[in-house]
Amino acid sequence: FAQRETHSLIGEQNIFGRDKAKNDIVKMISEAAESNSNTLSVLPLIGMGGVGKTALAKLVFNDKSTKDKFDKMLWASVSNAFDLKHIVNIIIQSDSGESNNQLTLEALTKKLHELLRDKRYLLVLDDISNDNVNWEELINLLPSGRSGCMILITTRLSKIASELKTLEPYEVPKLPHEECGKIFVRYAFRGEKAKDRELLKIGESIVQKCDGLPLAARTLGSLLFRKDISMWQEVKENNLLSTGKGKDDILSVLKLSYDALPSDLKTCFSWLSTFPKDYDIFRELIIMYWMAMGLLNPASRTKEAIRVGEKYFNELAGRSLFQAMFLIMMAASHIAKCIALFMI
Ligand SMILES: Nc1ncnc2c1ncn2[C@@H]1O[C@H](COP(=O)(O)OP(=O)(O)O)[C@@H](O)[C@H]1O
Ligand SMILES: [Mg+2]
Repeated sequence: FAQRETHSLIGEQNIFGRDKAKNDIVKMISEAAESNSNTLSVLPLIGMGGVGKTALAKLVFNDKSTKDKFDKMLWASVSNAFDLKHIVNIIIQSDSGESNNQLTLEALTKKLHELLRDKRYLLVLDDISNDNVNWEELINLLPSGRSGCMILITTRLSKIASELKTLEPYEVPKLPHEECGKIFVRYAFRGEKAKDRELLKIGESIVQKCDGLPLAARTLGSLLFRKDISMWQEVKENNLLSTGKGKDDILSVLKLSYDALPSDLKTCFSWLSTFPKDYDIFRELIIMYWMAMGLLNPASRTKEAIRVGEKYFNELAGRSLFQAMFLIMMAASHIAKCIALFMI
């Protein structure tokens, strides 16, 4: 798979309602860094896709008092990681910018140890989503020579969090309605000063639907930027597309994320859109469906195909696109068919 990466830089002015969470986590990290224990501390941030784990991890990473505690700070985006060697390479690359793909795992591990030797380091592993990787083995091969070293992970998978944790996992909470509203307004009006009161009122009900998920507020806000009131109404009423309006806008919002998908995932994703709008996506069903459509390497045996399907599903579930898709399916009744037509 091609990489869909996150990076550690942010526009912090765009992140709302996370001061307390950030301070709590910075404090946990500081305490762990200052303890004299020689074990590597692992702090997981857990929560559903789109709740804001990556955004929060960035705030923590960029906080001055975090920076003061460590000699070395690394941000590794591991959503697409497929094996140990790949991950070690991603970590080294996050420091030097150079890929050392050609090296053996042995040589890569040595390089990593050189890089971190005698350093008190903070390593972020953002978006651990592949549970076929032996993450414990990864943690075990990281040097823990100096006391106070720290690994911050973000993941949707609480099983992985509890396997790796040394500190109690931090569950990233949904945002309060008010903060979610700020995000929505930021994207729905961009810099515009004068905000239509009618729109703001409809916006209130739309934000309610976002249920504290920043991704939802952002997606729906972007969708409604410079749209007339009838479209706002449609989103509020859950029938954005019954009139055929709004189709192009939804597609352009979705397309941004869609374009970033590797091509084999694109095909599988497109087929998802042929499900009826309120379809509960059960992993097994989806995989069967892909299989029936011949998308999972038809030549291979069923077991192998299921494995590939699971891999694809996990890949998709870790992406904001997947959640955005749900939201938009809720907002628009016939979106599924439209997308199927446009994207296949
Ligand atoms: N507190 C927040 N304020 C504003 N935008 C946010 C906030 N948290 C997340 N976002 C935005 O919502 C989207 C999803 O957040 P992200 O951190 O990627 O979620 P996760 O990593 O949990 O899947 C991103 O576009 C992010 O910039
Ligand atoms: Mg993330």
